[in-house]
Amino acid sequence: MSGIAIIGGSGLTQLEGLDIVRREVVHTPYGEPSGPVTHGVLHGHEVIFLPRHGYGHTIPPHRVNYRANLWALSSLGVERVVAVNSVGGISEAMAPGTVAIPDQIIDYTWGRAHTFYDGDGAPVTHVEFTYPYCEPLRDALIAAGRAAAIPLVERGTYAATQGPRLETAAEIERLARDGCDMVGMTGMPETALARELNLCYACCAVVVNWAAGRGPGDGRIPMTEIERWLAEGMARVRRLLEEFFSAS
Ligand code: HPA
Repeated sequence: MSGIAIIGGSGLTQLEGLDIVRREVVHTPYGEPSGPVTHGVLHGHEVIFLPRHGYGHTIPPHRVNYRANLWALSSLGVERVVAVNSVGGISEAMAPGTVAIPDQIIDYTWGRAHTFYDGDGAPVTHVEFTYPYCEPLRDALIAAGRAAAIPLVERGTYAATQGPRLETAAEIERLARDGCDMVGMTGMPETALARELNLCYACCAVVVNWAAGRGPGDGRIPMTEIERWLAEGMARVRRLLEEFFSAS
């Protein structure tokens, strides 16, 4: 199963269990990716790993070079991408610790380099994006999550916000009215850029907090708890990935 990459989010800057073969610096027409890509072997399968925020978690969501990251992976022959993103939970099923495999996304980001079809001479192109995630890859992740017996929500709408600040309670109310189930800062433009490159891309969203106004008490986000749920959630993602690769 060659040609698969994992883009790690917060809490997944290193992929435990990955036997690292080599690191490769890739230069792209869009600038530098978040770091060198890591070629390795995970549960017997060749995998490329790239931490979205850099190996030292130094790049905030609005400064990630999403185009360079996706272009670099595609140029290395990657065809499938599993993106791991931490999110806040909006709908009731999205309690901290849950892993969700979203099937829809709404883009609330702005000012990010969001397309490869840009610049002088670029063709006017409108990619089809009705179903933003790769369904066969979603199905495989869902099957792996079930096999791993982790708390799993099998669909939902991801709200991609600009950050880096967290949202107000009113903003989350609005996202809920829009039909969003979870909120994160890195789903876009990554998902759309993957489609522009014809990559099969799906997301493992790890809920690390109740979104603003949704949690107990006055609804403030307890920042200290995020770390705990991040560690717990990423451990669950690692179990899911183990099942994913052992089934492949
Ligand atoms: N909002 C936006 N992004 C996030 C959140 C949140 O509550 N939690 C983790 N990433």
